[in-house]
Amino acid sequence: MSLIALGIFAIISPFFILAIYRKHKSVYKNIPGPPPKTWVAGNLLELVFQKSLIIFDKWVQEYGSTYKWAGIMGVERITTVDPGAINFILQNVKLFVKPKGQMLALKRFVGDGLVNNEGAAHRRQRRALNPAFSPAHIRELGPVFHRHAENMKARMDAIFDGSVQDESVLHHDNLKYKDEKQGLGLDMLALSERSAGDTVASAMFGYEFNFVNDPTHPVIPALRNASYIAINDLDRALAELSETFPWMDKIHTPGWKSGNEAKLTTWKYGKELVEKRQAQQAEVDDYEGKDVLSLLAHSTGTDPNLREDLKLSSTEALNQFSTAFLAGTGTTGAALAWAFYYLAKNPKVQEKLREELNSVGTDEPDSDTLHSLVYLENFTHELMRIEAPVPLVVREPIEDIFLPVSRPIEGMDGTKSDSILVSKGTMILIPIQSVNRDKRIWGEDALEFNPDRFDRNGLPAEKIVSSYGNILSFIGGLRNCIGFRFSMAEFKHTLFSVLRHYSFEELPSTPKIAAHLPIAVTRPHVVGMSGPDSYKMPLVVRRLDH
Ligand code: HEM
Repeated sequence: MSLIALGIFAIISPFFILAIYRKHKSVYKNIPGPPPKTWVAGNLLELVFQKSLIIFDKWVQEYGSTYKWAGIMGVERITTVDPGAINFILQNVKLFVKPKGQMLALKRFVGDGLVNNEGAAHRRQRRALNPAFSPAHIRELGPVFHRHAENMKARMDAIFDGSVQDESVLHHDNLKYKDEKQGLGLDMLALSERSAGDTVASAMFGYEFNFVNDPTHPVIPALRNASYIAINDLDRALAELSETFPWMDKIHTPGWKSGNEAKLTTWKYGKELVEKRQAQQAEVDDYEGKDVLSLLAHSTGTDPNLREDLKLSSTEALNQFSTAFLAGTGTTGAALAWAFYYLAKNPKVQEKLREELNSVGTDEPDSDTLHSLVYLENFTHELMRIEAPVPLVVREPIEDIFLPVSRPIEGMDGTKSDSILVSKGTMILIPIQSVNRDKRIWGEDALEFNPDRFDRNGLPAEKIVSSYGNILSFIGGLRNCIGFRFSMAEFKHTLFSVLRHYSFEELPSTPKIAAHLPIAVTRPHVVGMSGPDSYKMPLVVRRLDH
């Protein structure tokens, strides 16, 4: 044997022995699941290169609602779509925490913010931010949501009038479209994301980026690159690997660099804003702003009466800025883009929704008025059910634990059991999208888009811990999405302003649009295209009132 071969053998053999040892000690021997494809990568390659969650649905069909699969070198993982197991996990936030590898990957983009902290640090940050997301405060933000929705509509007006040539929204490739009936091919993802970015910055930090009218703003490429790179195969694989080999997170790939750049770009603005607001607070006695910026500035300030559990360091404050900005832009932006897509695919739904929006007796409704619209509520629920922008969450138990299930697990030996022993540190994946589309919860037609499903008796058939209508998109429990009320109010205001004046159709070439699976947030992607430019929602848009 040559020296090189001997060296390779010496490096690989400990891992090989570790994999055999793991298999021997496994508590999951009786749990069904797909056989690992290779001993090095387990089933990971099937996941990473598929860029979708369909594999999870396939495995549920084959192995049941709770099954095991393999990560790197024999590390076993669990996936569950079982409502009982999910409810138990989401209700026990101290027992089930986020995996370190996932937090490391997220840290590149947002620093140490609310999304990637655990325990006391998380509780303190969440307590400091809660007032900014309370129902009362979100209600007060109605006029801000309305103003940005109108800005988006005005941008579309300007594109149709020909007074601006927005190449980032108008198609300049094979999807370009224009017809005699005033139909234009527009990328509704670009517009929706820019509007969502403007809304978060304005409503939460009182800052007007005006991305909708300024596609060349430096934050836009930073955000776009970060979300594109997050979807990059290499970086996803490295984030996965860093779970087992933490040193791999030190490899500064182009993805790492662009994530870091996005963070530094948002920090640059955040720093200026926090300092400015601190100065304002110092000038005004009893300053009581409930917006995030005021709360952050206050939490980092010098108020001697500030409760210890509400104090944040300056870096923690900046991390919340980049967290909220990134968490609230790609997610609501993608949800809006999908909304236009499903309206285009379902003309009757589009007509019915427009009719309801036109029945509102004012051009400037408050959020309560929009929330009282029954069909808009059904449409919003159905959209969030069928296209969850955050497609999965991952947790791991801090100790060995029996996880109860509501759908019994059939073991490899044919025995049935109503719980599964999960060992400390096992990654448990909850594929939100599969749960939202589960026929046992939402009926035989669960894969179809149908807002009327929410008027049916007997649905949902199984209960899920959820912040929003039994749908898992914002998850539930103490670590639910803090921004769900914000996002849903913004979503409805945008549909109100745009849909009353514009209609949506599929392009005659009917490009296939699919959701790409990233580390954190899905993005609509034109199948067959590649690179950052493939992330778009190309639709034929027509102006109705001309
Ligand atoms: C359609 C829009 C949105 C969806 C689908 C969504 C979904 C989610 C999900 C699933 C989580 C849990 C992640 C996990 O535990 O791994 C989460 C957490 C979070 N979201 Fe959202 N989100 C949306 C909009 C927003 C907005 C608009 C904001 C802020 C303005 C926001 C801020 C956050 C924050 C700060 C967390 C971390 C909460 C914590 O860990 O305590 N999200 N979101």
